[in-house]
Amino acid sequence: MEIIFVKDYDEMSLKTFEIIKETVQSKPQSTLSMTTGGTPQGLFEILVKKINEKEIDISQTTFLNLDEYIGPKNAPYSVYRYMHENFYDLINFKPKEIHLINGDSNNVDKEIIRYSEILRRNPRDIQILGLGTNGHIGANEPGTPFDSEIFLANHDDSTIKSTIKQYDLTESEAPTQMITLGFKEIIEATKVILMVSGTSKAKAVKDLVEGPISVKCPASFLQDKDNVILIVDQEASSLLSK
Ligand code: PGA
Repeated sequence: MEIIFVKDYDEMSLKTFEIIKETVQSKPQSTLSMTTGGTPQGLFEILVKKINEKEIDISQTTFLNLDEYIGPKNAPYSVYRYMHENFYDLINFKPKEIHLINGDSNNVDKEIIRYSEILRRNPRDIQILGLGTNGHIGANEPGTPFDSEIFLANHDDSTIKSTIKQYDLTESEAPTQMITLGFKEIIEATKVILMVSGTSKAKAVKDLVEGPISVKCPASFLQDKDNVILIVDQEASSLLSK
């Protein structure tokens, strides 16, 4: 794992954008698998601006996503809605293809098979990840075996609380499950970029970088992988000893 230390959230967003730009410029028909949440919001702002200013051309590029909540397509927390409101509805130039997981399917097993087929047909050049305060990546929560493949995951209580806070939900409105790529599909990407910012993530970063590789900290799976880039800001790296 390569570690890039940056000053703050804005620098983390910009650095990630630069890697995406280089990738798309050298291979316009790239496939990028995105994530949602507070972490990539700044990245999406930069992407929208740079796409609309024609600094980056995504007309040959395919976009996928890491996961999707089980719930209505237009729920305030859905990945579908986030991606449209923060990205797809704001860009003036359309990508070649967009593939989202359907969290509103009445047959989850079938949906998993459908998306697996899309993953198979679209080898990913980049997988963007955020980090949970409990060390999760995607919805691979602590305890998930490292050979997980795209599956229906139950959220940890801490993850449900974060979702409630982020989307201003009541407890009964909060989603408790997600269809998520497993460790297997995450690490298949040519480059896996883990973006981390803020003091709330500092303990998870310490476990990920300096702790044992253990299912107790799902992100520690990435520690010994050569295709992983951790982009971490000063606050999030503040507990690292080395
Ligand atoms: P956040 O979530 O970006 O909203 O902090 C990260 C995650 O849980 O993966």
